[in-house]
Amino acid sequence: MMYRTHTCGELRLSDAGKTVTLSGWVQRLRNLGGMTFIDLRDRYGITQLVVNNEDNNALSRQVKELGREYVVQVTGKVAERSSKNTKIPTGEIEILLDSCKVLNSADLPPFTIEDETDGGEELRMKYRYLDLRRNPARKALELRHKMALEVRKYLSDQNFIEIETPILMKSTPEGARDFVVPSRLNPGQFYALPQSPQVFKQLLMVAGYDRYFQIVKCFRDEDFRADRQPEFTQIDCEMSFVDQEDVLKTFEGLTKHLFKSVRNIDITGDFPRMSYADAMKYYGTDKPDIRFEMRFVDITEVASGKGFRVFDDAEYTGAICAGNCAKYSRKELDQLTDFVKRPQIGAKGLVYVKYNEDGTFKTSVDKFFGEDDFKQWCEMCNAKPGDLLLILAGNKNKTLTALGELRLEMGNRLGLRDKNKFAPLWVVDFPLLEWDEETQRYYAMHHPFTSPKEEDIELLDSDPGAVRANAYDLVINGVEIGGGSIRIHNDVLQQKMFKVLGFTEEEAESQFGFLMNAFKYGAPPHGGVAFGFDRWVSLFAGMDSIREVIAFPKNNAGRDIMNDAPSPISKEQLDELMIELKGEAKKRVL
Ligand code: AMO
Repeated sequence: MMYRTHTCGELRLSDAGKTVTLSGWVQRLRNLGGMTFIDLRDRYGITQLVVNNEDNNALSRQVKELGREYVVQVTGKVAERSSKNTKIPTGEIEILLDSCKVLNSADLPPFTIEDETDGGEELRMKYRYLDLRRNPARKALELRHKMALEVRKYLSDQNFIEIETPILMKSTPEGARDFVVPSRLNPGQFYALPQSPQVFKQLLMVAGYDRYFQIVKCFRDEDFRADRQPEFTQIDCEMSFVDQEDVLKTFEGLTKHLFKSVRNIDITGDFPRMSYADAMKYYGTDKPDIRFEMRFVDITEVASGKGFRVFDDAEYTGAICAGNCAKYSRKELDQLTDFVKRPQIGAKGLVYVKYNEDGTFKTSVDKFFGEDDFKQWCEMCNAKPGDLLLILAGNKNKTLTALGELRLEMGNRLGLRDKNKFAPLWVVDFPLLEWDEETQRYYAMHHPFTSPKEEDIELLDSDPGAVRANAYDLVINGVEIGGGSIRIHNDVLQQKMFKVLGFTEEEAESQFGFLMNAFKYGAPPHGGVAFGFDRWVSLFAGMDSIREVIAFPKNNAGRDIMNDAPSPISKEQLDELMIELKGEAKKRVL
């Protein structure tokens, strides 16, 4: 028996007259004037089936029993439709059924299997296998497949080879927490799941594989957000005998190829580059969305000394020209004030200056400042009559961040963040180290293998915070799509770096001894980058969450709500691993 001669997306008017067999799911059933119409669905599309209820009683009785999402096999003749549906490729034909066999019945799905479903995210993820029947989900997975294919094609053509690296590895600090896996054969010892294949790809460079890539799962035990998952996929890449320029050029090539082959978008010319310092200064973030300008203007100096405490006491006062919004109502301004006062943004208040069309000013600080001040600020911000200035003041870093959020909010309100417009950007010259107040020590901003800029190496002892790294991020539309660096390939410098990071020699040896050792056997200069594949797919898919482009994602608490993982394990399993649970966790044994 042949289940099908065609798929549900295949038949056209030119097939009229053929007898065909299709298999698929019942999407919809309609009874109209003695006829039953069935939409039969599979991955490839929808085909309309017709049964004349008066013609064939056995068949029409069978068809009456069908329900939504039943799996059926049907045979019939392709015929031209009288009322054509121009919205679908099979819309000119229908199948006049001869037989219909139920391959499997189905319970009523908990939400409608439609493009616009009535199911909320929790429900959709619980029944993700039903959710994946919907067009938007299917399209996202198809896009993901296509992108992976194009990545492999492009990189392979550039002499990169894909090499798999271990999933069970040694725990090495890379920024986030490790997921650990107990070893039964080595009680008391644990593997870690890789936060990235970073050390392995560097070892592959030592081994001479000068162009490596891998589309690979990475695991990080961190707090989740819309653009973060505990397990996610990277396009991980490394090259030997390259400097920063070579790496940026190579992956600008990959990026352009993906834009062209997947979205049919030509990106001409070199991607703009911005230093980390400028990104922070003008956009308050290391991942600026440069689809629109609205750069920050520092008015700290000119706005202080006029008796307005908020500005006088501020370490930083910054303004943005939020475009043609002087007409904003009280209510709209209140909304913006509420926005910046949200705990996650944390500003104390918002100052506005309306530069009215008639040249006058209306502001929230009239008591302290005069027309000359407002004119000066407006000039500094390039504001025209009709424009609105928004001003935040306070602690420098916090205010920059808050102003960055406000800028994005204004970008949204003004429709400046079109999902079909793409603005790639390299952010370069990241600091090598980041000071942590809490633990009173430096952390590697990227990871401990990132090389300092040659000219800054001497600052490592005197002013570590000022050392810049050969590190870079690819940012598209305000999303950090990828990041990488040129690595340290010299064991003396690497040891020095570990020291600055507060590792004792013993700690460095026990955690990274294998890498230090490898570096003694002729490590070539090397560097690389890794792209967040899920983020890239969701950007191209126009989705707001990376969960939508992952077949079986985890929720915000890191749980798979479909199969209820993580879950307790049995006493026997724990015994075998010689693990005893403590405290609250004790109650969880199966
Ligand atoms: P990094 O940590 O910057 O670099 O990661 C590279 C890219 O991976 C994506 N990403 C994530 N995506 C989804 N969920 C997460 N939890 C998550 N964390 C990171 C981001 C990010 O830009 N080994 C280095 C790369 C290198 O130096 O070559 C690394 O992993 O898009």
